[in-house]
Amino acid sequence: VTSTLEPAELREYNPFADAVMADPHRFYRVLRDNDPVHYVAELDAYAISRFEDVWTVLETGENTFVGSEGTLPPKDVFLHHNDGPVPDPPLSPLLNHAYYSSPIYDDVRRSYSKLMRPRAAADMADMIRRLANERLDVLLPQGEFDLTIDYGGIVSASVVCELMGLPMSDAEAVLTTVNGASLAKKGVGVSTAAAHGDYFSHLLPIVERRRAEGANGDVPTVDGLINFELQTPDGPRPLTDREVATNLLGIFIGGTETVPKVTAHGLWELLDHPAQLAAVRDGLADGTAATAREEIIRYCAPAQWFVRTVRKPVRIGADDYARDVRPGQRVIALIASANRDEREYDDPFEFRWNRPIERMLAFGRGQHFCAGFHVARLEIQILIEEWLKRVPSYEIVADEAVRLPSSFQWGWNHIPVRVG
Ligand code: HEM
Repeated sequence: VTSTLEPAELREYNPFADAVMADPHRFYRVLRDNDPVHYVAELDAYAISRFEDVWTVLETGENTFVGSEGTLPPKDVFLHHNDGPVPDPPLSPLLNHAYYSSPIYDDVRRSYSKLMRPRAAADMADMIRRLANERLDVLLPQGEFDLTIDYGGIVSASVVCELMGLPMSDAEAVLTTVNGASLAKKGVGVSTAAAHGDYFSHLLPIVERRRAEGANGDVPTVDGLINFELQTPDGPRPLTDREVATNLLGIFIGGTETVPKVTAHGLWELLDHPAQLAAVRDGLADGTAATAREEIIRYCAPAQWFVRTVRKPVRIGADDYARDVRPGQRVIALIASANRDEREYDDPFEFRWNRPIERMLAFGRGQHFCAGFHVARLEIQILIEEWLKRVPSYEIVADEAVRLPSSFQWGWNHIPVRVG
């Protein structure tokens, strides 16, 4: 990555600009050095790029920063500028919980999270290992395949099916739906709302089925939401099927699309650093995959940014560059930039499998911290372990690898691999 931009070109920084979507890191470096709390006038938003500032903003509580316009709004939402704080959306129909402040956000999230808590997640290890090996049984005899989609993609979509009570045979269809819907449109960004129809064709039947079966807790993710009571000014009420499905979207999308890109890119980085690959491979029995996983996540996590709308007047940034931000303005927390901040990580553009990592923002922080954190880390670790155990040599067809421009998930959509 080269820092070829002049500070003057910063005024062109906009997360939806074609050049930014195609290669964001060169912009981030200039932002970090020259204007860490950068105002994007068109969007009435401040893009924050330094680790320390993202860390502080995301951990700030008391509904100072809220998701009331969505945490990943498409451009048209930004184009409307607010005169003051943006209240939570109405409770009827209930949108995805990410739009609401505490306590509604927290209550809904708690209701579906049982299987993703540390111990429950750890109990999935055997299943994930079996899934990884089943994939390798199919793929290795083929000789060449897509490391992103065919390996981690199918495994992570299968885990989502398990969490949702869907048959694992649906994994391929789930993966296709999520990957298709999360592609960014030129100049507009990603609109998950536009893909709701596709998502709901998977999710609504599960909700209807679990309700008919009594939602007795056997599928905790879905049943937790079916049995949830929403506190409204008119008293408590249950969620409709559509509201339940809407609140499953985070797991459906988040659980499917990130792990495969991170894993495949990580295996590519290891291959590009033969001494590191050898060290990880040789030490598998001593847990090297778990160590490498952390650097792989820091280096390869594809999510670029998440948005908060400011609800209370707040000052952002260190004294020498702080900005006062008004209620109704937005903050774009550039977590991908934070992961490569020279102030937090020594030589951040270097991949080092055993880099000491004290703090990381790849999974966010604070209220919206990734609900799938434990499951995701387990999946990545196991996918790497099983790959290195069973694949003595591999080669990436770099010319044919695809990383599509995106305002959201800028990661390797396709990585063709040949196994020896
Ligand atoms: C390496 C893999 C993953 C990474 C890097 C990642 C990253 C993130 C980040 C940064 C957020 C915070 C969004 C925000 O601040 O607004 C988040 C939220 C979330 N993630 Fe993940 N994620 C990963 C895998 C998963 C998996 C496997 C699942 C489910 C099985 C999952 C489910 C969720 C959910 C439900 C949320 C909550 C959304 C919200 O509260 O707004 N993620 N993830």
